[in-house]
Amino acid sequence: MERLPEVPGGMAGAALTTWRLVHDPVALMRDLAARHGRTFRMALLDGPSVVTGDPAMIADIFGGEQDLFDAPNEIVGPLVGDGSIVLAGGARHKRKRKLLAPPFHGARMRTYGRIVAEATARHSAALVSGREVAVLGVTQRISLEVILRAVFGIRDDARVEALRVAIDRNVAGFPAWLMFLPFLHVDAGGFGPWARYRDTVRALVALLREEVERGRREAGGDRQDILAMLLAARDEDGAPMPDDEVIDELRTLVIAGHETTATTMGWALWQLHRNPSVLERLRAELATAPGEPEALARLPYLAAVCDEALRLHPIVPIFRRRLTRAATLAGHAFPAGTMLHPAVLITHFDPAIYPDPLAFRPERFLERKYSPYEFIPFGGGNRRCVGAAFASFEMQVALGTLLPAHRFRLDADTPIRLAMNGVTTRPVGGVTLRYVGR
Ligand code: HEM
Repeated sequence: MERLPEVPGGMAGAALTTWRLVHDPVALMRDLAARHGRTFRMALLDGPSVVTGDPAMIADIFGGEQDLFDAPNEIVGPLVGDGSIVLAGGARHKRKRKLLAPPFHGARMRTYGRIVAEATARHSAALVSGREVAVLGVTQRISLEVILRAVFGIRDDARVEALRVAIDRNVAGFPAWLMFLPFLHVDAGGFGPWARYRDTVRALVALLREEVERGRREAGGDRQDILAMLLAARDEDGAPMPDDEVIDELRTLVIAGHETTATTMGWALWQLHRNPSVLERLRAELATAPGEPEALARLPYLAAVCDEALRLHPIVPIFRRRLTRAATLAGHAFPAGTMLHPAVLITHFDPAIYPDPLAFRPERFLERKYSPYEFIPFGGGNRRCVGAAFASFEMQVALGTLLPAHRFRLDADTPIRLAMNGVTTRPVGGVTLRYVGR
């Protein structure tokens, strides 16, 4: 069996590679794939691992027997809470997915279309002609309101605002450096970054607890949101999910579903305005649709635009899976405990799969169907993003509502670097467009 190429390691090598992964993951993966091919061994600061952008190996990881892998996600524990699905393994993880996944699909999901269209109209109404727009500010307000209304079932504007502030403070209180330096996770007599972060958690949890209590009072009514469903769920013994666990799932859904969707919409808007022919084709398609959420979600070019933004600007650049026992994947034998990183940034930029990979060409998704091991923005296997269909639906409805009503312009087409901010990526410096008008 041939040996996998190896990225030169050692502590210094691991530190440099980890720094490059955080600072410029696109350049790192491009350089490594050019030198070592689609699959190679590499040391990161958290230990040796195997990185792969090879669809055959990714198929063995995502499409194989899932008991063979666990996902060491402890690093995000402080952000999502110990009761979160993200930290659960084995049968407990399976049970949680059964509960959380259904409302994010099909007819149930589509009932949230109105909420998306209204949030988009509301948060774009204040745009002023001629002014610069910090695009991610707008898309984040849209996606947060969608989660708070659709997932948490909150109708009251003041509650949406109170939760928005608490969530913003909570996320800002746990920057990447605090996440990656666990020895700082100590409460120094009520002072320091950790104590301040814990305060933001307490404030958020207090608001969420009020929502859970309200949800319990309104049980049996006509609520269609995901919180109502979590509260109605019973385990095999007929017991409800404890409140603390419901709260951790709510924190998880906000963290996993809010900035991710907003950032991808921001990238899509940026790419559309630097590729005028794509924008023109999209506007032409939008002009044929009646503007109803259901109709927008059926537009093929709009869907392709969202997929192309997910391909070129992945939110999670590499995934983490650890082998629970020895196994052979795509012809390579690995011992138990091997850390595997399916690498979106290798697969999505592979010219053999995506010709002219740096071009924003939504047409490619109409010309060819990509397998779930070639197009992997939402991960795969038993950990694939629970909100994938919902996120795509939301992006289509929001962009399909925004673009026919408003015009923007890109003043200067300067490249934007993608960098990691914690476990997800973002455009460094944000995305700025100029608002032309209605
Ligand atoms: C464009 C938007 C989004 C992207 C790119 C994205 C991407 C991802 C990725 C890459 C994973 C990990 C998959 C893996 O390790 O194989 C994940 C997990 C997850 N996502 Fe998303 N996500 C998005 C939106 C959402 C939304 C809207 C929600 C729900 C409101 C959501 C909820 C979750 C949850 C709960 C998990 C954990 C699943 C598990 O551990 O079983 N995501 N997402």
